[in-house]
Amino acid sequence: GDSDINTQVVVLGSGPGGYTAAFRAADLGKQVVLIERYSTLGGVCLNVGCIPSKALLHTAKVITEAEESSHHGVKFGAPQVDLEQLRDWKANDVVGKLTGGLAAMAKQRNVTVVQGVGKFTSANQIAVTAADGKVTTVGFENAIIAAGSQATKFPGVEADERIMDSTGALALADVPKRMLVIGGGIIGLEMGTVYDALGSKVSVVEFTDGLVQGCDRDLVRPLQKRMEKRFEAIMLSTKVAKMEPKADGIHVSFEGVNGNEDAPKGVEVYDRVLVSIGRRPNGKNIGAENAGVAVDDYGFINVDKQMRTNVPHIFAIGDIVGQPMLAHKATHEAKVAAEVIAGEKVEFVASVIPSVAYTDPEVAWVGVTETEAKAKGMAIEKASFPWAASGRALSIARTEGATKLIFDKETHRLIGAGIVGVNAGELLAEAVLAIEMGADAHDLGLTIHAHPTLSETVCFAAEMKEGTITDLY
Ligand code: FAD
Ligand code: NAI
Repeated sequence: GDSDINTQVVVLGSGPGGYTAAFRAADLGKQVVLIERYSTLGGVCLNVGCIPSKALLHTAKVITEAEESSHHGVKFGAPQVDLEQLRDWKANDVVGKLTGGLAAMAKQRNVTVVQGVGKFTSANQIAVTAADGKVTTVGFENAIIAAGSQATKFPGVEADERIMDSTGALALADVPKRMLVIGGGIIGLEMGTVYDALGSKVSVVEFTDGLVQGCDRDLVRPLQKRMEKRFEAIMLSTKVAKMEPKADGIHVSFEGVNGNEDAPKGVEVYDRVLVSIGRRPNGKNIGAENAGVAVDDYGFINVDKQMRTNVPHIFAIGDIVGQPMLAHKATHEAKVAAEVIAGEKVEFVASVIPSVAYTDPEVAWVGVTETEAKAKGMAIEKASFPWAASGRALSIARTEGATKLIFDKETHRLIGAGIVGVNAGELLAEAVLAIEMGADAHDLGLTIHAHPTLSETVCFAAEMKEGTITDLY
């Protein structure tokens, strides 16, 4: 055709969705071009999301564990944090290793990477504009849109480097004395956990009446209690009425919502502010209209179970196709799209997608929540095992956790689970597998779990439902 490059499959965006789709399509024998505007592959997740945040959360955990070991007889001095070394470790040893690995894997598979901003010019061509203005056109038979999402901006405030999004917070320019986090969702609480451990006085302001919306309140409570103890303030049912950057800091005034009268009355001054009020899909910035791909008002692209858009040879995956905006959802969808393009008869059929907040303690949930079951009038049975009765939780001095299982009342099958506590994100995997495999309480209770482990709490919760629990210590 009349393009600079012609390929069977083009993938727009190299995040967890994009690189997975490109590699899978190449492995299935397709000729693949991967377009990415940045110089490294990996998208938000590897460069400025999941991975660097977990590196900093690890550092936070080391610091708080050292602090708290003084309660049981081991005292350390105050931590001396070398920010430059911490940033180097995160950028080079963690992020750099992974993004470098992706570049090598692309090469190995003969995936052609084209760097620049891609926009559809028609239903069979994308034009890629490099930083120097040079345009490369890529003609394709099939396209997979994996252009991801970006942080929602706080409206009506002049730009100031002290007002940050998650990328700014992860850059760790300094440790502000006083920091405000706007939005009590996962990003705000994870980054709040990091800055609290590093020594900032952190306040969180959340519009709704609770942190981590979408998760059951009993599972959020232990996290909130700990944060209330460590942080300067958790302001629920409160919004930012005004925010103004001034020489001495960011001046913020608050306003209670839904009848809340406890919102701070005067002006508070913060050294830095993190805006973490959600993410918006990038659907409106890719020239989708030129290809005839329908994008909704918010920027999402609708797809069917095979990840097909309204244009049958163009697919879309990841954050750009809807909630939940999670890396493991993107990679799963990516494989489906690549396999469908390669002629396989597959669909996205995962029955559940786990969510994890990597805070301290972690909060993890999957499938039907108790709140949802109540709202829908579903017939369920629940069992909740308090970690205060777990020998392992006691021996790591973290007994605030709980493991909750939700069963279908009729079939007794596991249909939901929630865990709060140290390593909850890792522990949840067993429940996810159990749900996918249709396991019931009996299966979980009769499976021998190593003692003493936190994973036993899943077994104990199942035994509680069965009325067979006797062996817990
Ligand atoms: P993205 O990762 O957003 O990748 C899209 C890519 O497309 C980007 O590299 C972008 O540069 C490129 N692109 C976009 N438009 C164009 C264009 N026109 N031309 C060329 N290139 C383009 N999820 C989890 O599951 N676990 C976590 O622990 C977790 N932590 C997170 C922490 C933070 C701070 C943030 C911000 C997000 C986190 N997420 C986490 C969410 C996760 O990062 C996303 O769900 C995931 O990255 C989505 O993958 P994606 O492939 O859809 O898109
Ligand atoms: P979020 O949607 O999870 O949370 C945003 C919070 O901000 C909500 O509680 C909302 O009520 C509140 N809010 C919105 N506008 C507000 C305002 N003006 N003032 C005060 N509060 C306001 O969004 P977040 O935390 O920005 O994260 C975006 C997405 O990134 C997540 O939903 C998730 O998909 C992904 N992510 C996943 C992680 C993980 O899996 N561990 C980690 C970080 C991000």
